[in-house]
Amino acid sequence: MAIRFDREAGTFTLHTKNSTYQMKVDENKVLLHTYFGALTDESDYSYLIVPDDHGFCAQPAGAGGDRRYSLDFYPQEYAVHGNGDFRVKALKARLVGKVPALDLRYESHRILEGKYTLPGLPHAWAEDGDAVQTLEIVLRDLYEEVYVTLLYGVYEEENLITRAAVIENRGDTALEVGRAMSLCLDFPEGEKDLVNFYGKHAGERQPERRTLGHGITEIASGRGTSSHQHNPFVILCDRDTTEESGACMAVSLLYSGSFQIQAEVDQFDSVRLVCGINDEDFCWTLSKGETFVTPEALISYADDGLGALTRGLQRAMYRRLIRSPWKDQRRPTLVNNWEATYFDFTGEKLLAIARQAARIGLDMLVLDDGWFGKRNDDNSGLGDWYVNEEKLGCTLGSLVQQVNDLGLKFGIWIEPEMVSEDSDLYREHPDWAMTIPGRDPVRGRNQLTLDLSRREVIAYMKDSIDALLDSANIAYIKWDMNRSVDNVFSAANPELSQGAVRHKYVLGLYEVMEHILEKHPDLLIEGCSGGGGRFDAGMLYYVPQIWCSDNTDAIERLWIHHGTSYGYPMSAVAAHVSVCPNHQNGRVTPFKTRGICAMQGSFGYELDLGKLTEEELQEAGEQIALYNANYDLFQRGDYYRLSSPAENGDFTAWSYVMPDGSRASLSVVYTDLHGNPKPHRIKWKGLIPDAHYLVDGRAYTGAALMHGGFVLPRPECNYDSYMAVAEKVEE
Ligand code: DGJ
Repeated sequence: MAIRFDREAGTFTLHTKNSTYQMKVDENKVLLHTYFGALTDESDYSYLIVPDDHGFCAQPAGAGGDRRYSLDFYPQEYAVHGNGDFRVKALKARLVGKVPALDLRYESHRILEGKYTLPGLPHAWAEDGDAVQTLEIVLRDLYEEVYVTLLYGVYEEENLITRAAVIENRGDTALEVGRAMSLCLDFPEGEKDLVNFYGKHAGERQPERRTLGHGITEIASGRGTSSHQHNPFVILCDRDTTEESGACMAVSLLYSGSFQIQAEVDQFDSVRLVCGINDEDFCWTLSKGETFVTPEALISYADDGLGALTRGLQRAMYRRLIRSPWKDQRRPTLVNNWEATYFDFTGEKLLAIARQAARIGLDMLVLDDGWFGKRNDDNSGLGDWYVNEEKLGCTLGSLVQQVNDLGLKFGIWIEPEMVSEDSDLYREHPDWAMTIPGRDPVRGRNQLTLDLSRREVIAYMKDSIDALLDSANIAYIKWDMNRSVDNVFSAANPELSQGAVRHKYVLGLYEVMEHILEKHPDLLIEGCSGGGGRFDAGMLYYVPQIWCSDNTDAIERLWIHHGTSYGYPMSAVAAHVSVCPNHQNGRVTPFKTRGICAMQGSFGYELDLGKLTEEELQEAGEQIALYNANYDLFQRGDYYRLSSPAENGDFTAWSYVMPDGSRASLSVVYTDLHGNPKPHRIKWKGLIPDAHYLVDGRAYTGAALMHGGFVLPRPECNYDSYMAVAEKVEE
């Protein structure tokens, strides 16, 4: 049993294969958090809480005169505003016209087989009979009919615990929720490091590690999307934790909108971590009988370093979060015309690219931005999702047919959440765009955001995407979103708080995606937001892959892929070979290196194949064959970061290893050159020590490759690279 309740002690103990999580209902019926860490027994860990009469630490109702009991320093499971806890809170709500406070106490609980679901929100899932359990703990306000149900999903095998909270108002007075976090985690001892993933457009998810100091550290997005700038994923670890050793835990929020993660080190050096929807301008009113459901958060623990933690999380997300049937199927290798033509294409130009694609063994042509409405640059046309036949020189159906006749699938780009002011849609429904009446709108890429809090806008989006998908044999869509959301105002509901509109927008987006997947179950969707501006675990519930960054330079991608790998499966990373000099930074890299780097994820090309030399075309054909031959390894293998671009200036190396150790790849990109160079050696990981492996025709034991190491070939030019596959020899 993964979840145990000890009636006498009042403890709930949750076990995964490598971790234990414990809560306790204390004598005041407060739900305390008593343990989260390495797998341990079911002792009552509340002995670690030391009651004391600390100055300026108040007592909640019922604690009477015991000045040694205070929620100002007791570790709590779901801390609320207004009962003497002055740290960052999980929940802040007020009963309109009454006191702005809640005081939640334990009411009841249930332990259920299987995993709870969160209708309308992304969530980890389980199938009947899977070793997954759910714990529901109901808390109730001491005075009012306000209930909070804390939900826990325990995936023993995957070392994964999920959390969410449901807030319910059963009383007559309206409840205004100003903050409702998905998770609150208290640790009695501080001295922790926080690793977060910051970035920018074309430079996403750069890991940054800091020692948590006193006060509040916040990682957040208020942009309406999870954003390029910060990612809703963090790691909390001991100060001496490394890639290979030490305790660490990952927290990932399944949410694609504005989020907030706060870590506070308090007066007694305890650490509290909360994460959930960003509470900036957030106010959600619950009338009698209404509920508010927070997004889900995933937590995962490892006591053997960041590498093991992230491999475990990648596996758990792959198995339990991504649900597209394309997850396990061979996804098409593709050529996308964006960097090949930008807006300047015709049907004939596209077909020329498609012919070359078929010749070198690619599976799909993706038609990017510019095929619809009046759209010859990025100032017009968004919202008008009907094909520009004049530009293509034929109907979409006919173009797709010609591409299919070449033996290729066809994919298409859309950006359904947006509208251009110069579009038929805007002319017809100007109030569907989010703007503030009487003010010049804040524009991003000269476009406005549709108000997805409105039913008619959601209906329009569903209908226009359905019509597009029904009009031709479309196997894939790239779902883009190219601005930060501002001027958050719904003309249909001016009373709604900005935070509420932002959240409704995300719910609307999820509803449309759910609809599309239900109606078109075989469709492969690639997520995108100007590259990786919405690369989050919430999105992965709907799409198995996401365009990782608009930066296609192989060397900058080393950093972006490295950072992304901490929080997400590499099979979700879409990566393409593009031209040189690179369009984003002008860098020149060998064709081979661009291929090796793009093979880290879901592989493709983003250049005019017609402009490649015969030699390059042949090399591309070989890259595609190599990728296909090792597809299982790249899609299902365990990913090892063998070196970090931030720490090793000479090369970056990574490896995939089949879970049974039968096969492994090693990829290396040299990032610097030296006169009279020293030899470079690298240690493989994850192999079977006493098995024999063939690498480049020479036999090694797994132990030799892992402990002795492997001598890398000398680089022959700037940004040279090397890739090898170790094949286990059947003895
Ligand atoms: C941003 C995407 O990230 C690019 O790949 C491309 O699709 C453009 N948008 C098209 O406008």
